[in-house]
Amino acid sequence: MKQPLENCTFVIFGATGNLARTKLMPALYHLDEEGLLPDRMKIVGLGRRIANKEEWEAELYKDIEVKARGGIKADVYKSFVSKLDYLQIGLKDDSSFELLAELLNNDAFPDNIAFYFSLPPTLYGSVANQLGKTGLLKETQGWRRVVVEKPFGYNLDSAKDLQHQFDKHLEEKQIFRIDHYLGKETVQNLQVFRFANLLLEPLWNRNYIDHVQITHAETIGIGSRGSYFDQTGALRDMIQSHLLQLLSLVAMEPPVSMEAEDLRDEKVKLLRSITPLNAKTVASHVFRAQYAEGNVTGDNSNSYLEEKDIPQESVTETYAALKLHINNWRWRDVPFYLRTGKRLANKISMIAICFRQPPKQFFRTSQLDHLKPNWLLIGIQPDETLRMELTVKKPGFDMETESISLDTSLNHQSSKDAYEGLLLDVIEGDHSLFLRSDEVEHSWKIVDPVLRYWATQTDYIPTYPSGSWGPEDSHRLFEKDGQHWRCTLNPDECNDNNSNINTTKKT
Ligand code: BG6
Repeated sequence: MKQPLENCTFVIFGATGNLARTKLMPALYHLDEEGLLPDRMKIVGLGRRIANKEEWEAELYKDIEVKARGGIKADVYKSFVSKLDYLQIGLKDDSSFELLAELLNNDAFPDNIAFYFSLPPTLYGSVANQLGKTGLLKETQGWRRVVVEKPFGYNLDSAKDLQHQFDKHLEEKQIFRIDHYLGKETVQNLQVFRFANLLLEPLWNRNYIDHVQITHAETIGIGSRGSYFDQTGALRDMIQSHLLQLLSLVAMEPPVSMEAEDLRDEKVKLLRSITPLNAKTVASHVFRAQYAEGNVTGDNSNSYLEEKDIPQESVTETYAALKLHINNWRWRDVPFYLRTGKRLANKISMIAICFRQPPKQFFRTSQLDHLKPNWLLIGIQPDETLRMELTVKKPGFDMETESISLDTSLNHQSSKDAYEGLLLDVIEGDHSLFLRSDEVEHSWKIVDPVLRYWATQTDYIPTYPSGSWGPEDSHRLFEKDGQHWRCTLNPDECNDNNSNINTTKKT
C-alpha cells in the first residue's frame, strides 16, 4: 500500500507554452480526476504571454477539453482550477523572481516545491541561477525539486557546463531529468519482459541475436517548433535521449534491484560499453537526411525548408540513423541500428530483434529457399504489442515452410499519458525513470563525434521525399546481406521500396 503523497506546490515555468498546454496540464487534470494528487496541492503557472489567471484558465479549458479522456467533467475541472494560480513573469527580471518567492511564501502554498522547466533548454542555467539567488532552492522548509526536459545541453561540453551551473544551487537528488519515453507503458514493460521471463535470458546475447533495430518514425513534420528543431535536429531530439534510453533497457545487464540507483548504474555501464565513434567511423556508421516535399498518407506536404522559421540554407537533419556496437561480453559484434525520422510513411515506434539463422538449414533443399530468421518485435506505439515470428511447416504434402507470428496485444486504449506517471514520480521523489547526470554525459559522448563531424558538413544534406521510409542510402549501415529495415510489425508490409534519395546539392 502506497503512502499518501506529501502536499506540494507544482510550479510550471513556460505554462503558456506548447508542452505545458498539450501534456503537463492535461496530465495534472487527469491525475486530479483520479484523486491521485495530494489533498492540498497547488499548481502555479508562470508565463510571459498571458497577463493573468483568468486568461490562462480560459485557454486552459480549451486545451484540456481536447485531451480529456471521456470529455471534460465540470465538477473535476472546477476542483482542478481551485488548485491553480498564475503569475506573469520575465525570466531575466529579478523582480519577477522576488514576486514568485513572495507568492510561494504564502501559507496557502505547501512548502514542498517542484519547479518544472518547460522552457527552451538554453534558459535552464539562468533560471536555476535566479531561483538559487532568490533562495527558492534551499531545502530549509520542505523539499525543492527541479524537473528539466531534454535536451540537457546542446553537446557534451554544454551539458557539462549546464551541470556545473546546476551544481551551484542543487544537489543531484533534487534534479529530475525527464525522458517521457521512460514513462511509456511498453517501455516499462520491457524491464518486466526481460527480467520476469527466464526463457528469454539464455537467448539474449551475441550467440543468438543477429542484430537489433530501434525505430521511431513519425508522419508529422516539425509543425510550429521550427526554431527549436532547427537548432536541435533529429539526432539530439530523439536519438541522444529517447532511443539511447531504449537501447540501454534492451541491452543492459540485470540490475541489482529495481531501485533508482541500481537501475541507473546498469544503464550507465551499458552506455559506457558502447564503442565510441570516431572521425573515421562516423561516415560509415551514421546517416542523416532532411525531408523534401512529398505525400504523407495521402496529403501533399511541403519540404523542411518551406516550414516556418527554417533558414533556406539549413542542413538540419529530420532523419538520422546510426549503427552502434556494444563492446561487452554479451553483445560484442551485434550491431544495434537506431533510426528516427519525421514525415516518414508511417507512425511507428518499435524495437525489432532479429535472431540468427539456425546453424544448419535442413529444409533448404527440401523445398523452400532460405528460412526467414525469427524476429521478436516490441511495438511501443501506436500498437503496444509483443510479437514473435517463427517458422512452421505449411499444411500439405510438401515440406514447405512459412512464417507465423505469436502476438500479444498490450494495447491499453484507456492508457495514461507517459507524463502522468512521471509527474507523480516527481512528487514522490522517485528517480527510477529519470536520468542521472552521468547517464546524460555518457549519452552525449556517444553522439558528440557525430555532431562534430556534421558541423563540418554545412553545405549539403541528402533529402528524402516526405511520405517515404527515408533515404535509401541508409541501407549502407547494414553489415550483411539479408539485413534490412523493419518498417512495420507486419512482415508482409516490410518493403520500404518507396524510400528514395535525392542527391541534389544545396547551393
Ligand atoms: C519529443 C520530441 O521528445 O518526442 C519530438 O521533441 C517528438 O520531436 C516526440 O515528436 C515524440 O514523442 P511521442 O511520445 O509522440 O512518441
